[in-house]
Amino acid sequence: MGYPRVKILAFCDLCITEDLYRQAFQDLVAQGAELRIMQWELADLQDLRAKVIQTERQGPQAVPYPAGAEAEARDANVLVTHICPVPRKLIDAAGRLEVIGCARSGVENVDVAAATQRRIPVLNCPTSKISTAADATVGMMLAECRSLARAHRDMMQGVWDARFAFFGGSMGLSGRKVGLVGFGNIGQAVAQRLQGFGVQMLVYDPYQPESVIRQLGGAPSSLSDLLKNADFVVVLARLEEGTRNLIGMKELGMMKQTAFFINTARAGLVDYAALRVVLQEGRIAGAALDVFDTEPLGLDDPLLKLQNVTLTPHVAGVSRSGYLRSALDVAEDLVRLYESRSAKHVVNPEALQGAGRTGKEI
Ligand SMILES: NC(=O)c1ccc[n+]([C@@H]2O[C@H](COP(=O)([O-])OP(=O)(O)OC[C@H]3O[C@@H](n4cnc5c(N)ncnc54)[C@H](O)[C@@H]3O)[C@@H](O)[C@H]2O)c1
Repeated sequence: MGYPRVKILAFCDLCITEDLYRQAFQDLVAQGAELRIMQWELADLQDLRAKVIQTERQGPQAVPYPAGAEAEARDANVLVTHICPVPRKLIDAAGRLEVIGCARSGVENVDVAAATQRRIPVLNCPTSKISTAADATVGMMLAECRSLARAHRDMMQGVWDARFAFFGGSMGLSGRKVGLVGFGNIGQAVAQRLQGFGVQMLVYDPYQPESVIRQLGGAPSSLSDLLKNADFVVVLARLEEGTRNLIGMKELGMMKQTAFFINTARAGLVDYAALRVVLQEGRIAGAALDVFDTEPLGLDDPLLKLQNVTLTPHVAGVSRSGYLRSALDVAEDLVRLYESRSAKHVVNPEALQGAGRTGKEI
């Protein structure tokens, strides 16, 4: 089967660039699909982040899409976006629209209700960042416990000094206890990676069956036992109402003074005011943090004055290969949808019920 009458309109940005979309959709194009790519103009990555937050708070109609998008969308069968908004107005302008693909996990930038009303399935890709985020999490554990980032910073400033290797908290991973708080996609991928390091894994996740935890070499634990015993406490839960401030002063106070705290998940899971205090007072050995209660982190933030932290600017899930994977996930699910009326990741499965809007009869 070919796709001679399918027009795909994709909005590229600073993350999923035009060449990544071309690579991801090359098979569809080879089979006759038309791929039109429009640039969603952004000043820089900070501007992108601000637009993400604005969209999350105010909805997709609050942020502009590229000029000329409505005219291009008029005969498009597929809209593909990453962060560029797809509000009701754009969906309404696209009279022949059959599918919307969102090359990220969260679909706050797409008016899913408007799509569902027109029985247009919305695809997303919740798994494309797993490897990238899991790699970064293990990297952050190593960077903090072996002082890799501190030593690098010193060398760049002309300082050759091995003192970090003799820090009280300085330790490798081998033989240590790692506590994973949250054992979903990324937690499990971290566990897979850690199996090669000879660690013991304690896992707290009230929603994962014991068999899944044991299969990956973990031992199910209560949160308090994990906090009391782990040499590394790694937060990998999802931020929901029930998990907000899951780790507060009481929980941090249960950690060993020699233990490290790692958060590459979401800032809202942790009371950062309490975390600053325990780090400043040396009540734990250190922390590796990719996410913060204020982003970007203020230049006067006390965390920037500490020696016992490794900090990265919310990039654990970001990599070029991950962005290509996201675009490929959408392209592959699009093919599944056209071929068999089913897809791996449909945000609004109700749009697929009843008489077919997708599949060979399109
Ligand atoms: N820093 C980044 O760039 C980046 C990138 C990707 C994902 N993330 C974040 O990483 C985290 C993990 O992502 P994921 O894809 O593995 O999510 P996921 O939904 O697959 O897993 C989350 C897990 O948390 C568990 N959970 C729920 N409530 C819990 C509780 N009270 N205590 C312990 N566990 C609980 C769930 O059962 C689930 O297994 C999320 O917070 C996500 O937003 C960050």
